[in-house]
Amino acid sequence: MLVLGIESSCDEMAAAVVEDGRRVRSSVIASQHDIHEEYAGVVPELASRAHVERLTPTLRRALRDAGVGLGDIDAIAVGHRPGLIGSLLVGVAAAKALAWSLGKPLIGVDHIHAHLYAGCLDRDEPELPALGLVVSGGHTSLFLIERMETPRLLGRTIDDAVGEAYDKVATILGLPYPGGPALDELAQTAGADERAFDFPISRLDALLDFSFSGLKTAVLYAVRGVPQRGDRGGRGGGFPREASELSAAGRADVAASFQRAAVGAVLGRVEAALDGPAAEARAMLVGGGVSANSRLRAQLEALAAARGLDLRLPQIAYCLDNAAMIAGLGFHLLQTRGADDLSLRASPASAL
Ligand code: KG4
Ligand code: ZN
Repeated sequence: MLVLGIESSCDEMAAAVVEDGRRVRSSVIASQHDIHEEYAGVVPELASRAHVERLTPTLRRALRDAGVGLGDIDAIAVGHRPGLIGSLLVGVAAAKALAWSLGKPLIGVDHIHAHLYAGCLDRDEPELPALGLVVSGGHTSLFLIERMETPRLLGRTIDDAVGEAYDKVATILGLPYPGGPALDELAQTAGADERAFDFPISRLDALLDFSFSGLKTAVLYAVRGVPQRGDRGGRGGGFPREASELSAAGRADVAASFQRAAVGAVLGRVEAALDGPAAEARAMLVGGGVSANSRLRAQLEALAAARGLDLRLPQIAYCLDNAAMIAGLGFHLLQTRGADDLSLRASPASAL
């Protein structure tokens, strides 16, 4: 069965054709980084307009790369939540139009849920129960997955997502947008001292929740100094220093120390979950843009080996937003839960 997946929740327009939920026949991602770079963040109005322009060429290329025509497609899956509403609407409207005109089933897929499925692409589904971890620009959440179609939320960030912290710290250091990959690279600079700064790893009463805003502020103060009361007119809003005053080695030390704290915070919660509600887990499903991070991948691999867990780290291409994960999970949901009807709505919030 061939499922056409469509993903448009944020600043990537993506389409993919996946066979039987696993075999990726094509996966096309039209990024908009060039458009949003100037603003160091996604501008929703620009994103939805760019989605409209990129929709048809992206769909055409996904079909061509898979070597199929629209008539060969058996079902249409679309990421319909969560995300920027104007962006989601473009994909959802396209998916409904295709499903209706082709007379094929329509499946609405939750974007976060799809990130969890990315580690099943081009291979099999793991034995369950599994611990699920989504680390992206918009979300940082832990799940217990007893059945693939119904993950249960165990904990999530109470403020910034980990990818958001990466992007903001990258901006503080003057790195190009989107900052996560550039910061990851800077942190790996030879000689960088990951203990140069003792950045805080927040502890919360709820053991499985995350918080990254304190870490981000600690980095800001380490780089630019603590703003003085009443000094609003000085150098950039009262900060004693400019980021550009840091040496290259100093910047690498900040990056490495931040990365140690951010990844340490994630690993701490993963271990707490494995010692608590996910003690029976046989596998770990990880997804979202930050699952491309070098340190997080290495530490999760070591943890999974020590605990004998089947770790599903997606290929790098499936860590970031993509439509193959939407089509893959869409197939699974069609088998287990059935299709949606044309009243399917786009929503900014996840239902997970
Ligand atoms: O999953 P994704 O493409 O979009 C959301 O659903 O949010 O994740 C994008 C996020 C961005 O914050 C980006 O900076 C971060 O993933 N990211 C990374 C790395 N690659 C992407 N963060 C840290 N290290 C990386 N190597
Ligand atoms: Zn995502």
